[in-house]
Amino acid sequence: MKIKIRLNCIILFALAAAVSAQTFGAAPIPHLEKRGAATQLMVDGKPFLVLAGETDNTASSSLEYMDTAWPKIVKMNLNTVLVGIGWDWVEPVEGKYDFTLVDGLLEGARKNNLRLIFLWFGSWKNGLSSFAPEWVKADQQRFPRTLLKNGKSVEVLSTLSEANLQADARAYTAFMRHLREADSGPRTVVMIQLENEVGLIGDSRDRSAAAEAAFARPVPPELLDYLQKNQMTLWPDLRKLWEAVGAKTTGTWQEVFGASTATDEIFMAWNYARYLEHLAKAGKAEYPLPVFSNTWLVQPEDQGPGDYPSGCPEPLTIDIWKAGAPSIDINAPDVHLRNFSDWAARFHRPNNPLFVPESYGDAGGAANAFFGIGQHAAIGYSPFGVNNAEHWVEPRPGSNAPASVDLEKLPLARAYALLAQMSPLILEAQAKGTIAAAWLNPQQPKNYIPLGNYIVNIDLQRNRRNPVPTLGYAIVISIGPDDYFVAGLDVQVTFSPNTPGPEIAGLARVETGKFVKGEWMPGRKMNGDDVVLDYDQAGAAAKNQSGSGLIFGTDGPTVQRVKLYRYR
Ligand code: DGJ
Repeated sequence: MKIKIRLNCIILFALAAAVSAQTFGAAPIPHLEKRGAATQLMVDGKPFLVLAGETDNTASSSLEYMDTAWPKIVKMNLNTVLVGIGWDWVEPVEGKYDFTLVDGLLEGARKNNLRLIFLWFGSWKNGLSSFAPEWVKADQQRFPRTLLKNGKSVEVLSTLSEANLQADARAYTAFMRHLREADSGPRTVVMIQLENEVGLIGDSRDRSAAAEAAFARPVPPELLDYLQKNQMTLWPDLRKLWEAVGAKTTGTWQEVFGASTATDEIFMAWNYARYLEHLAKAGKAEYPLPVFSNTWLVQPEDQGPGDYPSGCPEPLTIDIWKAGAPSIDINAPDVHLRNFSDWAARFHRPNNPLFVPESYGDAGGAANAFFGIGQHAAIGYSPFGVNNAEHWVEPRPGSNAPASVDLEKLPLARAYALLAQMSPLILEAQAKGTIAAAWLNPQQPKNYIPLGNYIVNIDLQRNRRNPVPTLGYAIVISIGPDDYFVAGLDVQVTFSPNTPGPEIAGLARVETGKFVKGEWMPGRKMNGDDVVLDYDQAGAAAKNQSGSGLIFGTDGPTVQRVKLYRYR
């Protein structure tokens, strides 16, 4: 009898242990998930909005230096940091790996309640191979380089060398294997950037003997299959190039795409994509974190590929990358240009969610974060150089930041604080497709956004006593037939009915407030002077607006909730 009871106890205990391991075991591995209208990053089993910043390239090569950066990063209200890991830093001697730095960065992030995205600076960083270890760089015979038209080799490893590929793959997989072990508990690392702004600078394509031979061979059938299967949705310029020479399904690169530097760029894109695909796949076999590439964008002054890195996933070549590197989940843009909305639209495609690993951290950067997240369901935003955030003060005071800057008060820190508060609502609205955003400036001072049952009219804030602001931004979320949350800075917002019925939208109730643990806590009830817009009633009535609206000042961004009603 006693034995039976003991046996039952043991069975019960084993069952309970199994259940608790499932319930309380390691958090699930971060992954991307299609949720309704958006693809979102799932962290600890829940959608996660990446409010990040990237450190300078070598900040993460010293844990001592990082000790000076963590407190600043925390003050800026980031939840994630992007840090480089150089191949040379972890494999300075061939086959001898040292991940002390990786472990120190994991520990630093955890202590500060932050997530990490590692940037693998392997074969290429900004086109060059400067982060490869000395034993690679110094052995040009074993690790061949790219050759330019002028007959000179550059410090750029060739995409066409098996030795290069295998050496990088060995190091990268060792790194990913280490992460699998070192990060199996808290899941501090949420994504990986593979290499950094790859592509050839100085020529439109590699002229080495191996590259010339590959260029003369037929276009691989995998690429041609992809083009045929996706012909209708290819990026218009790529489709035009291919169709202009007859949409051929066999032939050499020049036969299929024509004889131009764009063809060279496509050829390079394919070769980089295949190289990175091999790494991404091998890395995921060790530890399947989401992986993205980052792009050095074509600059307005560039004449052609080679002025910008030829082969980088630009708008023209993203389809080539999708065909060649399906294990790369996102081709992300580094937006160091002020026309952020154009670039966001070019990279946000049905098969490519938006994530911005590098951009501005000033007031314009705060607007970018709002716009990307609100209008393009971005997974996240990350300005470059967060360890020197003092330099993001607006207006930029030459190259020297003021002696002391209150980091918490910087535009991006304030924008991140509000986005963090609102993130459960934002993530839900991204999935439902009930969110939109505006990014306004004197060249584009208004935006009319159809959302739910109304058109949301967003203008730069106008006030007779103050000049019109140079920048305004807002996120709008529809939460019911006549109900919205609007968060913004320096804008005024009215609503026009967009469904049959009485033509004018009035304000039934407006309140300021904040979110605490996802719950809305109302503050002031906005009415009277606080909702009177500074333009004439006649003009407003002509636009089916009541003349009252939400006003968002310079002290922000802030959030308001509005309930509308309609009259004639
Ligand atoms: C783009 C690169 O990807 C970064 O690593 C850094 O070098 C920045 N440019 C500098 O602005």
